[in-house]
Amino acid sequence: MPRVMLLIPSASYRAPDFMEAAARLGVEVVVGTDRRSPLEGAAHGGLATFDFDDPEHGADEIEAYATLHPVDTIVAVDDGGTLLAARAARRLELPHNPVSAVEATRDKSALRARLQAAGLPSPAWHVAHVSEPPEAVAATVRERVGYPVVVKPLALSASRGVIRADDERAFVEAFRRVTSILTTEEALAECGARHADRVLIEGYIPGIEVSLEGLLTEPRADGGRLRALAIFDKPDPLVGPYFEETIYVTPSRLPEEQQRLIEATAERACLALGLRDGPVHVELRLDGGQAYSIDIAARSIGGLCARTLQFGTGMSLEELLLRHATGAGIPTFERDTRAAGVMMIPIPRAGVLRAIEGVEAAEAVPLIESVTISIPVGGKVTPLPEGTEYLGFIFARGESPAEVEQALRNAHATLRFEIE
Ligand SMILES: Nc1ncnc2c1ncn2[C@@H]1O[C@H](COP(=O)(O)OP(=O)(O)O)[C@@H](O)[C@H]1O
Ligand SMILES: [Mg+2]
Repeated sequence: MPRVMLLIPSASYRAPDFMEAAARLGVEVVVGTDRRSPLEGAAHGGLATFDFDDPEHGADEIEAYATLHPVDTIVAVDDGGTLLAARAARRLELPHNPVSAVEATRDKSALRARLQAAGLPSPAWHVAHVSEPPEAVAATVRERVGYPVVVKPLALSASRGVIRADDERAFVEAFRRVTSILTTEEALAECGARHADRVLIEGYIPGIEVSLEGLLTEPRADGGRLRALAIFDKPDPLVGPYFEETIYVTPSRLPEEQQRLIEATAERACLALGLRDGPVHVELRLDGGQAYSIDIAARSIGGLCARTLQFGTGMSLEELLLRHATGAGIPTFERDTRAAGVMMIPIPRAGVLRAIEGVEAAEAVPLIESVTISIPVGGKVTPLPEGTEYLGFIFARGESPAEVEQALRNAHATLRFEIE
């Protein structure tokens, strides 16, 4: 029986879904987690804590662990574990993505530089040190990038600290706000001191945004390496100043030709970084007949959003990925033919969540599969750009993407969150 090490940061939503897939497949699992709050009880096969913040040290620990309890493959479940997985797998001579490729997915300025050097469509960009006077940076940005721009931290996620600025005045404010987010303990813990001293400023790309869920494999007969598992449309406008993700619906309603452009660009972008094995989550924008890669992660889709995806007759994305990782056959890559969608329920304002109403009514909306609230009553809620969480997730499935989208909106409209 193959033994899989799943690297699951304690903040991840995804432990249960991966554990369930592992149990179904009959693979033995050891969960490696960080030290902030171990996922007690998450693993049947074992639980070990490693240093996620210092991946070189963490890789030493995994190497020592694997000497006593050998593992056949290492899978990173969320952003926090991708670098550690690559480094540890390299040590243990297990299949892995090159460390430098994964590093480029964890540093947005490195990502920009690599994609631009490879000739992929890229916005103009500039990196500023947090200690520079904002007014001076604003003037440099006017010359080098041109407004509107998007200001973003190098290594945070979930749109935290990502702010659009249309002119120098707005830039100064956005720059101050991002730099102050970068001084918080949480942000430092997430992105590490090495990435908290600079911010990336890049040209704002208008146009619609999609995300592509893909799997990098051995080169195939058709020469391709990236298998597109799903393209999600994001039907709510993402125009800023903050970029709150809400609805994702698949299959995409874009014309075939645009979907092929998205797939081809995502593949070129992954190969330009040097990624070659395992899941990728790529966000792209379409503008002027070109696809721009906004963000690339060497892991599968985050939050609980993977629950929208089913392959063949009920295979989950987690099962597909574990099959890939363990070399078990993948019976099909065909997604269930129905449309599916998820709404990440945004946090409307800061405060303490006092009450939630309407969950049953939302679940009773036709096509709604489930509603999951992920913040407990009494918990603190923080909206973007400072926050990182969602109030919860709404899932829907139906015949067409349009009706799935409408069902998600109807369900959301029945929910009431009392925030004090
Ligand atoms: N250059 C850009 N032009 C337009 N929108 C952008 C740009 N960069 C980021 N965004 C928006 O901000 C969101 C978050 O940015 P991203 O780089 O993906 O950071 P994160 O790692 O936090 O997800 C994107 O999904 C997109 O909607
Ligand atoms: Mg992103």
